[in-house]
Amino acid sequence: MKGAFPALAGDKLVRGDPAALVTLILGGRNGMPSFRNDLSDAELAAAASYIRSSWGNVAAPVTVDFVSKVRKRTDDGTSARTGQNN
Ligand code: HEM
Repeated sequence: MKGAFPALAGDKLVRGDPAALVTLILGGRNGMPSFRNDLSDAELAAAASYIRSSWGNVAAPVTVDFVSKVRKRTDDGTSARTGQNN
């Protein structure tokens, strides 16, 4: 299973533009599930901030307000879980 789940330590996407990180967590990608319908803005902000400041990562925290804005901007009305437009 080595390499199946990318390491989050020193990861560019984790340390870089927080909008890219939040978008990824909201939408998922390949083998990673979408968390849009499972995490609140506060939960997602906490998780993103945690991984940005752990395992040697030292990027600025992600605020709840920021997550809320990215969520609105990236919401196309389609449920990632069901694929149905709701
Ligand atoms: C809140 C929880 C999670 C966070 C914050 C998170 C974070 C990330 C990040 C930042 C990446 C991208 C790394 C990069 O390409 O630079 C990633 C990729 C990935 N994650 Fe997660 N992840 C989470 C939960 C999960 C879960 C539950 C699974 C599987 C059950 C998973 C499976 C994967 C896989 C397979 C990839 C690689 C996707 C690809 O190759 O395109 N992740 N994750």
